Amino acid sequence: DTIYLKDYAPPAWLIDKLDLHVAIHEEYTEVRGMLACRRNPAGPGGELVLDGEELALQELSLGGTALVDSDYTLDDDTLCIRAVRGAALPDHFTLETRVRIDPDSNTQLSGLYRSRDGYFSQCEAQGFRRISFFPDRPDIMARFSCTIEAERQDFPQLLSNGNLVASGTLGNTRHWARWEDPYAKPCYLFALVAAKLDMLEDSFVTRSGRVVRLAVYVEPGKLDQCGHAMSALKKSMSWDEQRFGLEMDLDHYMIVAVGDFNMGAMENKGLNIFNTKYVLARPDTATDSDYQNIDRVIAHEYFHNWTGNRVTCRDWFQLSLKEGLTVFRDQEFSADTHSSAVTRIQSVRQLRIAQFPEDAGPMAHPIRPVSYAEINNFYTATVYEKGAEVVRMIHTLIGRDAFRHGMDLYFQRHDGQAVTCEDFVAAMQDASGLDLSQFRRWYSRAGTPHLKAEGCYDAAVQRYTLTLSQSLAPTAYEQRLQDAGLAIEEGPLHIPVALGLVLPDGSDALEREYPAGTCVLSLTESTQRFVFDHIPAEPVASVLRGFSAPVHLDFPQSDAELAHLMAYDSDACNRWEAGQRLASRVLLAGVAAGGQDTAWIPESFVAAVDRVLDDGMRHDAALAAEALILPAEQVLAEEMAGRGQIIDPEAIHRSRLTLRHHLAARLRDKFEAAWQALAPSSPYAPDGLQVGRRALRNLALGYLAESDEAYLKGHVMPRLMAQCNADNMTDVIAALGTLANLDVAERTTALADFYTRWQDEALVVDKWLQVQATSRLPGTAMRVRALMGHGAFDIKNPNKVYALVRAFCAANPRHFHGADGEGYRLAADVILQLQAMNPQVAARIARAFDRWRQFDSERQSHARTQLERIQGSTNLARDVAEVVGNALGKG
Ligand code: ARG
Ligand code: ZN
Repeated sequence: DTIYLKDYAPPAWLIDKLDLHVAIHEEYTEVRGMLACRRNPAGPGGELVLDGEELALQELSLGGTALVDSDYTLDDDTLCIRAVRGAALPDHFTLETRVRIDPDSNTQLSGLYRSRDGYFSQCEAQGFRRISFFPDRPDIMARFSCTIEAERQDFPQLLSNGNLVASGTLGNTRHWARWEDPYAKPCYLFALVAAKLDMLEDSFVTRSGRVVRLAVYVEPGKLDQCGHAMSALKKSMSWDEQRFGLEMDLDHYMIVAVGDFNMGAMENKGLNIFNTKYVLARPDTATDSDYQNIDRVIAHEYFHNWTGNRVTCRDWFQLSLKEGLTVFRDQEFSADTHSSAVTRIQSVRQLRIAQFPEDAGPMAHPIRPVSYAEINNFYTATVYEKGAEVVRMIHTLIGRDAFRHGMDLYFQRHDGQAVTCEDFVAAMQDASGLDLSQFRRWYSRAGTPHLKAEGCYDAAVQRYTLTLSQSLAPTAYEQRLQDAGLAIEEGPLHIPVALGLVLPDGSDALEREYPAGTCVLSLTESTQRFVFDHIPAEPVASVLRGFSAPVHLDFPQSDAELAHLMAYDSDACNRWEAGQRLASRVLLAGVAAGGQDTAWIPESFVAAVDRVLDDGMRHDAALAAEALILPAEQVLAEEMAGRGQIIDPEAIHRSRLTLRHHLAARLRDKFEAAWQALAPSSPYAPDGLQVGRRALRNLALGYLAESDEAYLKGHVMPRLMAQCNADNMTDVIAALGTLANLDVAERTTALADFYTRWQDEALVVDKWLQVQATSRLPGTAMRVRALMGHGAFDIKNPNKVYALVRAFCAANPRHFHGADGEGYRLAADVILQLQAMNPQVAARIARAFDRWRQFDSERQSHARTQLERIQGSTNLARDVAEVVGNALGKG
């Protein structure tokens, strides 16, 4: 049941129109579909194959003639129409289907399902087949109309894509509404909502004068939490006009928030459906990062209207065509509307935490994979975040203007079509004139390449020579290709390496020849030399400025060189990077030393932190806060694995903690000064300046909480407890998260008070679960298990599972990989309980086992026991089977 890209064939039949009638009743929902079918002149011929899953067929007719048994075959997931009363199918006909579905018992949250306030749909990737018989593939684009009928009292809002064209009442208690979408679309972009919701309304006038009605629908009583989402939407709309010349093409744009949702949000045409997490915000309920995430996700879904909806994917192997490009667009939006340096740093950190390990693990795949068992398993950091990096590299190579021309050309050529990644690259190549043939390898190669750099300065002739080489070892993906007898691509990649040469006085040696002193080198060979003349003094090379390629950099620079870059590099991203490299080096030395005592902490590192703090108080607090976040435990773990060492999660944790304690002791006065200096001076607003100040101030507070017991009790605890009652959630959660790590009585009080206050606010309860799941205190696995039995937890709600279980598995490596195997057992228990209910979410949790082979043999044997236990269970969902199968495979 593996699906291969090489088996792609155009459809035998096209569907020009689909007219849907959805009647929601208490006991069942009836769906009637009228499909205008036409034989595809460019298709392979043959029968009409429709997908359908958990649909109870009531009626089937063709052009008004009821079909008989011998005209079609129906099995678990397909309906094949072969004939009409024994006669061959005509070239055009209308097919009428009537089915019953049961949204109330749909716990997968794919297709049409019941949530608290009504009925909601999620069709990407293959949910539409759970609503109606249809060829559920993105290259079938049809004009949709949809009539919804339901009880008026309980479900006053009846929404679908496009324009409301008619509505009315039906008998005493029911009503109906009919929607028509003027644009042809694949069925994964269909959406339907029948619910009782409150609405915030606004409007936007596009630059060509179209008045678009905007509406955000939320759970009753939550209108005071949707203002930020609305303003984010309007910002996104004008940004896309300005940066890419792309306008809204509909008269209605609706966003509906729902508390039960597998993913972040969904870009259904004109009717986005969002996880409440990415809509609802009020200063006292949402943190600064929640506000930023709302901006980002609202923008992302809005940008999909062009990159995804107007131009969509030919097949699901092309997923990165829309996701990588749209993530790139939302990153650019964030960079333009917030700080571009902070945005870039956060993207790079996220890539390292989530994508690099994926590339190194058993689920490794390129941004355009060639096979999958379950497409839902490929909504990954690789397809999304690395996909965005690949688009960014094109942008870096051809430049901003050519990239814009490439986008224009892409829309000129492909508007209204379902296309491939190749079509996108071709447009970029044709618009820029740059040969991207070698660059295309990024689409088919898995793994994170290694970039080796070596610099050499010849003072006599004032010449600097940089030697770059690249290598990319085969991953688990190549192994899978080989097992399937598929070809493996080889050869060097085309890597843009942005380079600066920083002189001893801190200036950029390449300033005169290159904008911002940065030269973009094209590395296309395995090894290449780049020569720079007229360099007046020995420079420190700043390689991969702006993180110009998603690679591991092996560049043996001294501590002093890194400190020089930290202080002077004109590229903020590489200033940050230099600090991270220095910190990793120190922390890994600590790991090697067993994590205890402090002899491995160089004085120069303390001094560097001191300087960053000073700088943060005087200049950019946000950047300083980023610089002072030590490399994550997961990132250090990958560094160990990359060196062929066994990951030691205890030693990593200890080393990080020791460093924190040491810095707290050595720089206490400085942290105190920062805490005082950055005190709020105006009412809360999630703006860049305030966000940066809060971040640095709370970081300082976190370090102060690492002080000795006397200082902690006397000077820090009162502040932490007071801050638990701050007027904004950012400060509250910073304090509560810190307390959750401390073995003190106040911890219990603070957590209890917080819960009492917020138990009715679902998203805030998620935070309460999360701070406990990510606590470093011993016994955390046990407490997570206990919390699964708490009234606040609900295994049917993805946000609850993510906040408690996924946070524990993915963001608490030391406890998840606890030596007793309790973390693994907990994860397996949840996966087994969840997999029948919601396989997508279960499979996401299962990904926590990805790196199990990188640990010691004891941990490996605990992990293997749990993986085999999952694999051995009966009726295992395909989603989980693929993840666990790969984890247990060769590798
Ligand atoms: N297209 C959506 C987005 O990127 C995500 C939908 C994911 N759906 C899924 N079944 N995995 O915003
Ligand atoms: Zn997306």
